[in-house]
Amino acid sequence: MTCEAVSIPVHSTLEPLPFLQENCSWLWHGRAVPLVHCSFDISRYRDTLFDELQIPLPASIRQSVLRRRAEYLAGRYCALRALDLLCLQPVSVGRDKLGIPTWPQGFTGSISHCRGQAVALVVQQDHAGRAGKAHWPGLGIDIEEIVPAETAANIECRLLDNAERELLDESSVSRQLLLTLMFSAKESFFKAAYPVVGRYFDFDAVSVIHIEPRLSSLRLRINQPLHSSLPTGRELDVNCQLLATQYVMTRVFIHS
Ligand SMILES: CC(C)(COP(=O)(O)OP(=O)(O)OC[C@H]1O[C@@H](n2cnc3c(N)ncnc32)[C@H](O)[C@@H]1OP(=O)(O)O)[C@@H](O)C(=O)NCCC(=O)NCCS
Repeated sequence: MTCEAVSIPVHSTLEPLPFLQENCSWLWHGRAVPLVHCSFDISRYRDTLFDELQIPLPASIRQSVLRRRAEYLAGRYCALRALDLLCLQPVSVGRDKLGIPTWPQGFTGSISHCRGQAVALVVQQDHAGRAGKAHWPGLGIDIEEIVPAETAANIECRLLDNAERELLDESSVSRQLLLTLMFSAKESFFKAAYPVVGRYFDFDAVSVIHIEPRLSSLRLRINQPLHSSLPTGRELDVNCQLLATQYVMTRVFIHS
């Protein structure tokens, strides 16, 4: 199934904030899926923004460091805006005991953040229930800063098998960039799959088997049975995007 990102100017019903700048777009995935990306300025973060935006601050996040509180807020803001674009408001996205976002009834989505960046996408399930667990088991999004050279080798050993390393060797593209994309794709897959798999699984559960030369997508293959809908050998495409030369964003939609 094709997935295209179309940037469109979107009227915001929320007040602009000095803390963040947002960029909304729509993806086409058999239906319109809002994608909200924001850059945020941690020096402009303050705890009162949670109240101003009517975003609940969980006790576990309240106790965490300022950077974590700011990232949590930015991620939840993106989720709120994505739901707003689907005309669902006022609403907030909670957090369960395992840290998984809890979406309003009839919606599912994914959140990611890293230094100064946050993203969320949300899909509305259709009325016939087709889009429930059967049709849209999951979607995942991830944003990562391109890994520095000092940590690249370490991540490579931990994350990739020999065939994946060969993909890196064969490519003329920056190793750090490709490595970050592969890592990010696996994180996106984990978030998309976790709700159906229901347990933790490691990076060797899937392999990157192809990287599209323009880096617009890569392909994953599942290496172990994760769920009846995610058997060994199933392949999935992950959309990739470079942001501001410094970040990568990946996203995956799992269809039954
Ligand atoms: C959970 C995990 C994927 C989060 O990724 P990350 O790059 O560390 O952080 P991100 O900012 O991208 O994502 C964090 C968000 O993911 C969401 N999230 C956390 N756990 C999740 C889960 N089990 N399923 C779906 N979404 C989850 C939350 O919204 C969280 O943000 P919040 O706490 O502010 O709400 C990662 O920490 C992890 O545990 N990875 C190991 C498992 C793995 O990736 N295996 C590889 C399989 S191929």
